[in-house]
Amino acid sequence: MATPRHFLTISDFSSEELNYVIERAIQLKAIHQKGEIYEPLKNRVLGMIFEKSSTRTRVSFESAMLQFGGGAIFLSPRDTQLGRGEPVEDTAKVLSQMVDCVMIRTFSQEMIETFAENSSVPVINALSDMYHPCQILADVQTYVEHRGSIQGKKVAWIGDGNNMCHSYITAAKLFGFKLHVACPPNYCPNEALVVTAGKEHVEVCHDPAQAAAEADLVTTDVWASMGQEEEQNKRARAFEPYQVNTMLMSLAKSDALFMHCLPAHREEEVSASVIDGEQSVVWGQAGNRLHSQKALLEFLLLGKK
Ligand code: CP
Ligand code: NVA
Repeated sequence: MATPRHFLTISDFSSEELNYVIERAIQLKAIHQKGEIYEPLKNRVLGMIFEKSSTRTRVSFESAMLQFGGGAIFLSPRDTQLGRGEPVEDTAKVLSQMVDCVMIRTFSQEMIETFAENSSVPVINALSDMYHPCQILADVQTYVEHRGSIQGKKVAWIGDGNNMCHSYITAAKLFGFKLHVACPPNYCPNEALVVTAGKEHVEVCHDPAQAAAEADLVTTDVWASMGQEEEQNKRARAFEPYQVNTMLMSLAKSDALFMHCLPAHREEEVSASVIDGEQSVVWGQAGNRLHSQKALLEFLLLGKK
C-alpha cells in the first residue's frame, strides 16, 4: 500500500504544489460560479472529525464534497468511540478503510499526526492548537485574486502568536512573502518555527506600528483561541495595544488589504471600521474556503488535473 499524502501543515506541500492548489482553486471557483456541474469525487466520502466548534470549516468541506459528487460524514467525539477513549491509532485504522479522506479539527497536533501515521487515506488538518493550514490556502487565494502574486509582499500579523500565526510563518518561505509579526512579549509564536523560516522571511517584534508600516496585507485573529476562554480577561489587557484599527491601517500601504480568518470580535482585535471597511476582504476570504479546499481535496485524492 502506497503511503498517502497528507496536509497536516503548510510545509507538507512544496512551493510548486501550493501554487498549483491556489491556481486550481481560482479555476474551480470559476467553474462553480458558471454553474457547471463538476463531480470528480463521485462516490468518495470525507470523514470529518470535529473536537472543536466550526462554522466555515465544516460547511465548506461538506459543501465541497457534495458539489464534487461525493459525501461527508460529521463525527463528533460526543457521538463516536473516540470520545469514550478508543485509541486514535485504532480509529484511524478502521475509519480509513471506510472513507477516502479524513479531516480533523482537534486540540493537539500530535493527535492529527498519530492519526495520519495510522491512516491509509489522506488526512487534512482542519485546525489544531499548532496550525490552521487550510485557512492559509483561502487567504493566499484571496490575496492573489485582488492583487496578484503574494511573492515579495509584506504581510503584517498583528496579535497572538497562535495557530494561524504559525501557519503564516510556515507559509512565508514557501509562498515567498515577508511576514512581520507584532505580538505582546508573552504571546510570541513558536521560536523553532521562526528560526526555521529564517530572518529573510519572518521577523517578530512587539510594535504593531512597525509591523504594519508599508504592509501589503494586514491580518489578525482573536485574542483568545478556542480552549483559552478562561484567559479572555487577562489576554484582553495584554492585547489592547494590538487592535487593528483605522490608525494602524493608515500606516500600511494605501492599497493594503485586511484579512481575518473569522470569527471576529469587533472592537477587540479589530475595529468595526476596519473589518467592515473598504480594505477588508474577509467575506471573500471566508467564501474561498470552499474553493481552496475543493482544490486541496482534488489534489490529495486525484493528483493534478
Ligand atoms: N476560520 C475558521 O476556520 O472558521 P470556523 O472556526 O468557523 O471553521
Ligand atoms: N485561532 C483561532 C482560529 C479560529 C478559526 C482558534 O484557534 O480558535
